[in-house]
Amino acid sequence: MEILRIRGGTRLEGSVPVSGAKNAALPILFAGILSDQPSTLRNVPDLADIKTTLKVLETLGISVSREDDRVTLDAGNLSSIEAPYDLVRTMRASVLVLGPLLARAGEAKVSLPGGCAIGARPVDFHLSALEKLGAVFEIDGGYIHGRAPHGLRGAILPLPFPSVGATENALMAASLASGISEIQNAACEPEIVDLATALRSMGARISGDGTPVIRIEGVSSLGGMNHSIAPDRVEAATFLCAGLISKGKVRVTGIDSHYLGSALEVLESMGARITSGADWVEAEAGDRLIPSNIQTAPFPGFPTDMQAQFMALMTQADGNSRIEETIFENRFMHVPELARLGARIRIQGNEALVEGPVKLSGATVMATDLRASASLVIAGIAATGETVIRRIYHLDRGYEKLELKLSALGANIRRENEK
Ligand code: EPZ
Repeated sequence: MEILRIRGGTRLEGSVPVSGAKNAALPILFAGILSDQPSTLRNVPDLADIKTTLKVLETLGISVSREDDRVTLDAGNLSSIEAPYDLVRTMRASVLVLGPLLARAGEAKVSLPGGCAIGARPVDFHLSALEKLGAVFEIDGGYIHGRAPHGLRGAILPLPFPSVGATENALMAASLASGISEIQNAACEPEIVDLATALRSMGARISGDGTPVIRIEGVSSLGGMNHSIAPDRVEAATFLCAGLISKGKVRVTGIDSHYLGSALEVLESMGARITSGADWVEAEAGDRLIPSNIQTAPFPGFPTDMQAQFMALMTQADGNSRIEETIFENRFMHVPELARLGARIRIQGNEALVEGPVKLSGATVMATDLRASASLVIAGIAATGETVIRRIYHLDRGYEKLELKLSALGANIRRENEK
């Protein structure tokens, strides 16, 4: 098993390039199913979840090739409509094959993703939106089996919650439905806009993406995609937090500040000096870290995917901070691991009260989920002595060459095989 070994106390300084966004690349790769023409994607990050997505596409009969950050897909002829359990259980985002397969092939069979560490993660909003477009579903033997016996027809699709995945499934399916669809209470995340942009490169007629009302005029067929994946705002925020906890100055490049809106506001309120340009954002540590109160929310609110990383930073603030997690029911699993490093954090329901400043000292800790892993890396950079992080396969799902990028900024961090 691989581990990360971090010797804390070094100051991070310099520029680091941001990779393509995992949460944009996943739905956009699945959108390749919608066309029988070849698609080309650039700036695709090299991540475990991307590898899993490409395997799912190959099980459907799609030919896939990858060269550096470029992926080409050829979905000329689908040989299967089933996303199997052994792949879906490792990546629940595989449920995003539903919309494209129903639209392209009129049928889809996807293993129920099952829960994950951070919550039950049901897909009821996905299914009810697709049903309004004309799909019918049976759930049998742990599989969702969907059919569109009369094709998909445009409809009004009111979402009970601005679910990112449900918006994406509905958007992809509606692109090939006959007639007009309108997704109401749609998710507004930048990854939704990136998916819509990729779909437009295929000839889809979409407007309003990035707002709560997305209008889609279905077309009879879609051409191949030609698209470069948007930058990963969660990776960028992770580096800015790492720089600040080390009292350093880190510039993330290949991203502009609109992707990081509410996160930058919080960092500024915590005393960071934020500057930005057309394709970079820099955070320099101020004289002190000021405590903060944050509540996670759908975009443009504070992103739940940045909650764990900010919690690590808050342990060094001059006073107590508070985090309210409103998106997932179990997204504080980094807390007991941070406590092993010396953090003092009290959980009350969906609130975490973070004491600061506390002295962190190195220990062996265990990654529990993707963003929790990043939180432990950030804390390890500030902890005196050595921190060893186990189960870093969680980290590899969403961060490309993290230890190499952090080393280039001055962190003392190595990937090793545990003896
Ligand atoms: C996406 O997950 C992201 N994953 C998550 O990132 C991110 O945390 C989440 O959006 C919120 O921003 C990808 O894009 C691959 P949701 P998704 O549907 O689409 C409930 C990471 O670390 N819900 O917006 O699954 C759900 O249980 C990952 O990169 C239903 O109840 O999120 C959750 O409480 C973690 N029924 C809330 O809505 C449904 O049908 C938000 O979920 C769908 C969702």
